[in-house]
Amino acid sequence: MLTREFVLSFREAAPYIHAYRGKTFVLAVSGETLQDGGFASMAQDINLLVSLGVRVVLVHGIRPQIESLLKRHGIARLFHRDRRVTDAATMDVVKQAIGVARLDVEAQLSMGMPNSPMHGSQLRVAGGNFITAQPLGVLDGVDMQYTGQVRRIDADAIRRRLDAGELALVSPVGYSLTGEAFNLTMEELATHVAISLKAEKLIFAVEGRGAVEQDGQLISTLTSQQAEALLDAGSLPEDVAAYLPYCIRATREGIPRAHLISRYEDGALLVEHFTRGGNGTMIARDPLVRVRNASIEDIGDIIALIRPLEDQGILVKRSREHLEMDIGQYAVLEHDGKIYGCVAMHAFPDADTAELACLAVAPTKRDGGFGEMLLQHVEYQARTQGLHSLFVLTTQTAHWFVERGFAEADKSRLPLSRQQFYNYQRRSKVFVKSL
Ligand SMILES: CC(C)(COP(=O)(O)OP(=O)(O)OC[C@H]1O[C@@H](n2cnc3c(N)ncnc32)[C@H](O)[C@@H]1OP(=O)(O)O)[C@@H](O)C(=O)NCCC(=O)NCCS
Repeated sequence: MLTREFVLSFREAAPYIHAYRGKTFVLAVSGETLQDGGFASMAQDINLLVSLGVRVVLVHGIRPQIESLLKRHGIARLFHRDRRVTDAATMDVVKQAIGVARLDVEAQLSMGMPNSPMHGSQLRVAGGNFITAQPLGVLDGVDMQYTGQVRRIDADAIRRRLDAGELALVSPVGYSLTGEAFNLTMEELATHVAISLKAEKLIFAVEGRGAVEQDGQLISTLTSQQAEALLDAGSLPEDVAAYLPYCIRATREGIPRAHLISRYEDGALLVEHFTRGGNGTMIARDPLVRVRNASIEDIGDIIALIRPLEDQGILVKRSREHLEMDIGQYAVLEHDGKIYGCVAMHAFPDADTAELACLAVAPTKRDGGFGEMLLQHVEYQARTQGLHSLFVLTTQTAHWFVERGFAEADKSRLPLSRQQFYNYQRRSKVFVKSL
């Protein structure tokens, strides 16, 4: 049984392994994760990612390390607008904290005991003066001194290290043209690095499992827009609320996906990226193309799409009145505010099935996956209504459906109420897909 589960899980992971080879992941881990030992298991998974050909940039934080060193040296903590004011004494502490943190991270990434997953791995960690910083300056009359902000990332230099198969370890510090070092925040730095490297993913490790609903239920996917609305609602855990704006910014600036994963859960990094469901929260770019429920205002566009197909006998004729009556069952595909596709779903709950009908994509927009998106929308709707199959009647598009998991079936498989309306002149074939 266990062997079977292993085989199935490994096969489930295979498409992701292919997809991620050569892609860049920027992983941001807080100083807390380094401090309390949670990083040890993550280090194994990072090693595995690199061995699978993923280009990993690890950005680490040092907040608690700075705090304990300040305490030990009896140096006062200074904050303004939620940012640390880094005076010269504090900057010395920052440098110490970075030194210790880097050594610890490098040590953990170098483990390779024979009975560990890292046995045989020869991960090399690269560092360097990749980050140019500038002072944050004087805010509301407060001189932030050595607290800085990112000015430039030497993405080419980082890329060269990644090309060589190394992991780039980036600490929250940047150097200025005047030869000084500045204290940066891990979140801002990781976001800049991801954007400048055009990374595939930006990942933050959080206290919980990710973004949650008010009742505590995990939200596994969000668009940037939904993430913004969730932030406005104001009920998120503190660290999620702190990281989410960086995820939104990254996705808006070209990173396809940002993720929040648990910093405690062993293997969270692998489960989130190599299983279908994941176990954290994924924030995706706002789609340029979306499928949405149709409204009365869309009827003109729907008619423009389907009339030529009705004239060719590909679709059955539908009057405007008929469309108006059933508009609640239609969805349209919108791209940049224009309608390029439509589909209808007529549910037959008593027969535990639904009919997919009136599927059309504008001729100029075909072969771009829009048809597939409309089909997926209907499948999703049917599943959410608890239905277990989908059927379609078609005269000329049989293969398109067969290639997407439909199988030809006899008319007797249709719900009785639908059989009564079967058009014997059209002689459409029936195709069914189990959901
Ligand atoms: C069927 C239709 C909705 C597909 O839309 P689309 O956005 O082009 O779909 P996708 O991009 O997801 O798929 C394109 C693929 O389907 C193939 N395809 C298109 N029409 C097909 C057909 N009638 N039979 C078999 N395959 C077809 C294309 O050749 C392309 O194949 P490729 O990926 O190997 O190049 C669109 O062609 C259409 O509007 N057709 C006219 C209306 C129609 O037939 N509706 C179904 C009525 S039941």
